[in-house]
Amino acid sequence: MKKTTLSITIGFLFLTLAITQSCKKEKNDVTPEPTPTATQEFIADSTSFLSYTTWTVQSVKTGPSPSLGTAHAGNDSTVTRMVHFKDGQNPVSGKYPVGTIIVKRSTNPANTVSETVAMVKRGNNFNSSIGDWEFFMLMPDGKIAKDAGGQPMRGASLMSGMCGGCHNAASSKDFIFSK
Ligand code: HEC
Repeated sequence: MKKTTLSITIGFLFLTLAITQSCKKEKNDVTPEPTPTATQEFIADSTSFLSYTTWTVQSVKTGPSPSLGTAHAGNDSTVTRMVHFKDGQNPVSGKYPVGTIIVKRSTNPANTVSETVAMVKRGNNFNSSIGDWEFFMLMPDGKIAKDAGGQPMRGASLMSGMCGGCHNAASSKDFIFSK
């Protein structure tokens, strides 16, 4: 009787072991899920930039910058250019995550300069030659500016491609100069 119990117990132990092993094997056999590629997309809307003045200030520059020419009022000696990063985003393996929003505001004491622009990491091959960034002209309050025809001033080739053309100089830093 005792012998039977023992052999049943041993038999059961082996069975348990066999099941555990086969489960382990199954787990190892599972092919890892493919990492999501450029399928994610973030499309900014009129509310996306509203609180930009409260975001992390990444950079403050004053005075003219020869590399800017007239862009971002870079030729004005009294100008201050502030760059705000939403949630202080950092690049991950050299690229900013989809949904990253960066706003830059240029002003001067005489109020002759007032320029607010933004870049948003839109993803999904939106603008593959310039890191899938979308460019924006904003109103000082963060609303998306409209052109004379009432169209929102946004896109991959805003200002006839001037934004992307110059930001291409920072291609090694995912097209962002300030970080
Ligand atoms: C002639 C070059 C040039 C052009 C054109 C230009 N930028 Fe920039 N941009 C810069 C530089 C340089 C900086 C870094 C900050 C600084 O020096 O003021 C910058 C900074 C920025 C930033 C902050 C993130 C960063 O890269 O540091 C945003 C957002 C931005 N630009 C958006 C735009 C948009 C939108 C346009 C088009 C309407 C535009 N830029 C056109 C040169 C340019």
